[in-house]
Amino acid sequence: MARSKTRCVGILTSGGDCPGLNAAIRGVVKAAIGCHGIKCVGVLDGFRGLVENRTMPLDDRAVSGILTMGGTFLGTSRDKPHKMPMGGKVRDMTEVAVENAKRMQIDCLVCLGGAGTQKNANRLREAGLNVLTLPKTIDNDIWNTDITFGYDTALDIASEAIDRLHTTATSHQRIIVVEIMGHKAGWLTLGSGIAGGADVILIPEIPYDEERVAEHLLERSRHGKRFSIVAVAEGALSVAEAKALAEAEEGKKAKKKEKEREKEKERRKQEDTEARARKAAETDEDYSPTETVMIKRGPGAPVEATYHTVQEPKASRLARALQRLTGTEARVTTLGHVQRGGSPSASDRLLCTRLGTAAADLLAEGRYGFMMAVKGDDIVPVPLDEVAGKLKLVPADHASVRAARSVGTCMGD
Ligand code: F6P
Repeated sequence: MARSKTRCVGILTSGGDCPGLNAAIRGVVKAAIGCHGIKCVGVLDGFRGLVENRTMPLDDRAVSGILTMGGTFLGTSRDKPHKMPMGGKVRDMTEVAVENAKRMQIDCLVCLGGAGTQKNANRLREAGLNVLTLPKTIDNDIWNTDITFGYDTALDIASEAIDRLHTTATSHQRIIVVEIMGHKAGWLTLGSGIAGGADVILIPEIPYDEERVAEHLLERSRHGKRFSIVAVAEGALSVAEAKALAEAEEGKKAKKKEKEREKEKERRKQEDTEARARKAAETDEDYSPTETVMIKRGPGAPVEATYHTVQEPKASRLARALQRLTGTEARVTTLGHVQRGGSPSASDRLLCTRLGTAAADLLAEGRYGFMMAVKGDDIVPVPLDEVAGKLKLVPADHASVRAARSVGTCMGD
């Protein structure tokens, strides 16, 4: 066995879970230990575990039997080191995270996560910690990789759900509006909408016109179709909503610039941790709005937790409008977290194993600061700072959009 340049690696999972995380952890650990003799430490519950020093040793036995398991056995959270609720305040815990990793003699931290995690890992890199990342998310929206793990499994789940909705929709002569996850990206809705044969596919990248959608549905019934399936992404926007959002964002940007100028002056005067935490809180908006509440997690005192505010499903508003415009009864199905649950598909297990083992090989070479990306048939390291802060959205003229239109699917525009 050639001497590895990395002696000890920390591994954490951060952001929303998805099928394949355990398979990827297993890939890293088995190859790190078995091929390169690298010691592995699991960090619990994402970046919070790093800040709170909660870890577990990872040996071959710890990762045995987890290839097919959904979720992440290390636990995850949406907590960010630079903006972490701690003792009633949001604090910048970046330095603590970096120091803890160094104290544990972790030479590199492998972070498995989505677009937000790529950003957070990159922040730790900038603060002096060696990192590598793997691209995980059912949303498939990470920049500079052809695909993310978790997407294929979610695609199967959502496609099967759409299949099943067909029989009940036709029996009752209904419109069924099915809401699919994806945050700001439409990959999952587009893919499952095509694979499941949805009649209408609405994605965030193509603002929709309710009246056009209704006209498409009426045209279907004029052709004797007894039902319609509308696949709508949770982040889809009507033309009016998209316009209002763009205007609001313009206004916000102007205000933010003004505030940033003020803050910059302030920062120069008072460059302490608190000031940086406040600035970060204003500029980072991965998942908004959020709310902070006290919750009881176990026998001890209640602890503070920040949650994404529960929103009315997009599909409900749309179903109401379509029912009114078409005179056809409409129902809503929100697939929600079912899309992220359960065992990973064969394709995701394969991808995770390839990504994890490729990361271990890079660790052995002592190469850090990369995300392991999928490019065609290959797994290649891409510089993390080129990935962080960008989202891979569906281009409006993407081949899949064209294919959907060619089979007569209404894209809402
Ligand atoms: O990023 C994965 C994802 O499932 C998105 O599709 C969705 O918007 C979000 O996470 C939901 O987050 P949470 O599990 O925190 O409700």
